[in-house]
Amino acid sequence: MGRKLLLEHINVPGINTFAVYKEKGGYRAVEKALKTMSPDDVVEEVKKSGLRGRGGAGFPTGMKWSFLAKPEGVPRYLVCNGDESEPGTFKDRFLMTHIPHALIEGMIVSSFALGANTSYIYVRGEMMPQIRILEKAIAEAKEAGYLGKNILGSDFDLELYVQPGGGAYICGEETALLESLEGKRGNPRIKPPFPAIAGLYNCPTVVNNVESIAATVPIINDGGEEYAKIGIGRSTGTKLISASGNINKPGVYEIELGVSVEDFIYSDEYCGGIANGKRLKAVVAGGSSVPILPANLILNLVNGDKRLMTYESLSDGGFATGTMLGSGGFIVMDEDQCVVRNTWNFSRFYNHESCGQCSPCREGTGWMTKILHKIETGKGSYSDIDLLVDVSKQIEGNTICPLGDAAAWPVASAVRHFRDEFEWHINEPRLSQERNYGLAHY
Ligand code: NAI
Ligand code: SF4
Repeated sequence: MGRKLLLEHINVPGINTFAVYKEKGGYRAVEKALKTMSPDDVVEEVKKSGLRGRGGAGFPTGMKWSFLAKPEGVPRYLVCNGDESEPGTFKDRFLMTHIPHALIEGMIVSSFALGANTSYIYVRGEMMPQIRILEKAIAEAKEAGYLGKNILGSDFDLELYVQPGGGAYICGEETALLESLEGKRGNPRIKPPFPAIAGLYNCPTVVNNVESIAATVPIINDGGEEYAKIGIGRSTGTKLISASGNINKPGVYEIELGVSVEDFIYSDEYCGGIANGKRLKAVVAGGSSVPILPANLILNLVNGDKRLMTYESLSDGGFATGTMLGSGGFIVMDEDQCVVRNTWNFSRFYNHESCGQCSPCREGTGWMTKILHKIETGKGSYSDIDLLVDVSKQIEGNTICPLGDAAAWPVASAVRHFRDEFEWHINEPRLSQERNYGLAHY
């Protein structure tokens, strides 16, 4: 069994309450940080841990913290990104629902490290139950003296607020999130400047994912070096994976980075194999924003070694034969799944969620969606496949925020690895139309 740092007490009744969380060793990291460490010491431990952003980008958290500007007399902010909306990704919601105090504790430790006296948890607007759970947890922590003025007798003050999101996928992009938090429409800003220099209300701001912030608790409790002993290479620690699709045991799993993809899919500790005795066809490993890989490439590297659940191994081979760990939204497809149909579904999502600021994304996502629908319903031609690839190339790298790339990669990779399936729809228009009767009105 792999070590559990975040979900160790997940099955303890009442772990969502302050009392039980504390009884199980909770809030030790706050005590340790505030009573025995300086803010710089905390930053140093997080750097040593090698923790990388768990929202999807995998940027080193300690490095991001050390970029935070500290001009005299200007407030600094910590904003937790709980706007989890990536298709196939539900691990932050799980954490906030079941162990809210792990996030609250991480927010206190991280705010202390960054010198932030006002911090926000921005939660996807649809997650009202989680917003209520967090508000209750904050009230409990405040009552116990872990929030507010002079926490635990130190000179550190912290007010923590939960802000419901604006109800759009794009509000999870960090600069769109900051715009939304300021009360404006959630349009991404051009970076640089990064939020670490000019973020919320133009002040230095760190934006971290829910899981990244919760991970600071075991890092402070056990020390950064202990945390870094788990995992392989630059993929240290544990990672929450949201597993969904055609598997026997969908759910949220905490893995030690470095388990093999094969073990993750087939072992009883995790997904328990493909449902109904079917064969594995493909996996989208990091939420829908990453390339799809066929079974042979997701299980093995081109040199024959087993592919591992790490940032490096999943991206081995670049986009020709690799993918990304991303947010850890692990979507498994069996032999009966239609790749064209799934790709169309993803594309429709990005088209709907594009904020419309940049033409390649605004127009290109709509164009790709229409072409995919045409092919899926048996009305496509061979030139449509090439057009699809061409449009995806025009979007990639030409937009303000990563949503454009996120829309382009699944399409480009689906054609790269499953071209024969696209061609089947063109060669078998009648079968394709019959199968998709009901899709025609989209
Ligand atoms: P990014 O790579 O642009 O930035 C990562 C982080 O590092 C940001 O916080 C950025 O401000 C910081 N950073 C990078 N360079 C910096 C510098 N020179 N100075 C200061 N700070 C710097 O990626 P981004 O746009 O934050 O995230 C994209 C990822 O988000 C995608 O890979 C996707 O997997 C993931 N995603 C996750 C979703 C979810 O629901 N969990 C939803 C949508 C996307
Ligand atoms: Fe908006 Fe798309 Fe441009 Fe991002 S890439 S800013 S979502 S139009």
